[in-house]
Amino acid sequence: MTEIVEKLYKTGDLSDSELKSLIECGDEKTAELLRKYADETRQKHYGKKVFLRGLIEVSSYCKNDCLYCGLRRSNKNAERYRLSREEILSCCETGYELGFRTFVMQGGEDSSFTDDFMCSLISEIRQKYPDCAITLSLGERSYESYKRMKDAGADRYLLRHEAACGELYSKLHPSEMSLENRKNCLKNLKELGYQTGAGFMVGAPYQTTENIIEDLRFLQELQPQMIGIGPFISHHDTEFAECENGSLYLTLRLLGIIRLMFPKVLLPATTALGTINPQGRELGLKTGCNVVMPNLSPVKVRKKYDLYDNKICTGEESAECRGCLERRVNSAGYEIVSERGDFIK
Ligand code: 5AD
Ligand code: FES
Repeated sequence: MTEIVEKLYKTGDLSDSELKSLIECGDEKTAELLRKYADETRQKHYGKKVFLRGLIEVSSYCKNDCLYCGLRRSNKNAERYRLSREEILSCCETGYELGFRTFVMQGGEDSSFTDDFMCSLISEIRQKYPDCAITLSLGERSYESYKRMKDAGADRYLLRHEAACGELYSKLHPSEMSLENRKNCLKNLKELGYQTGAGFMVGAPYQTTENIIEDLRFLQELQPQMIGIGPFISHHDTEFAECENGSLYLTLRLLGIIRLMFPKVLLPATTALGTINPQGRELGLKTGCNVVMPNLSPVKVRKKYDLYDNKICTGEESAECRGCLERRVNSAGYEIVSERGDFIK
């Protein structure tokens, strides 16, 4: 199996059958080699730097009904909130003082966040913090909406494709959502000049190795600047309540593979990875990740942004994620920097 890792390291690609054997390989020596090459590759392009993204969870209202997500509209037990303009600006102020140079405004698909509201907010943040990047993660919107927000000053957009295989996509989403539209949104975002992030959950219900290979092929076609992957984690109020969580080791293998296939990509060690294992994010950083996304949301709403069970960084103790993550990043042997952390061309 180590020859396959060598080949991936040297050429940045593998055949489908080689990918399949590597994705399914539980061998420790292979995992260690993959980790070593993934780390070498990230260090070649980004050194020991880890970029911070301050995550502001702006709304837990969502008009969508994705079967895996705790915020799905049919979850009547979900507690809903939306942050006001002032609250969001105050998160940015706190974040800036803590050294954040990217703000990520993420939320469910909430129609209260109109283009007018968003554009005026984005312009104000752009003006107040000219040295910061503004990232949006607000789901599927029209070309016109993406364009207006880009013109107002947004730089990046995160929209996971979730599943590149139509059959799997439709098992994870209600019938009114389509993979075609999702892909179209991603195409529009790239065309408009956003640094674009796509990605998927690892170990989602019904997901096969072939599905994962299709995800990787889709990412090769799209060439996003960011790739977000994390383990699927069940939520007690969804139809997938009884499904098994994605595995730490499969997620780490995929992070390593992604780093070697996309040497310069911005790759976060996600909160979900830190949720399934207390050392998950540190292990991610050692396996090619170069981004962490501490929670900047007001502590009083954190528990309500309840995508999956046992999400970390939601308790009182987490009021200062920045410090916690800094210690974690240092313990893994890397260094947090106070920079925008743009994609390097
Ligand atoms: N487990 C893991 N990740 C999830 N997401 C939503 N629900 C879950 C879950 N149960 C991810 C989706 C979405 C991102 C914001 O969170 O991939 O794109
Ligand atoms: Fe959020 Fe540790 S990173 S509490």
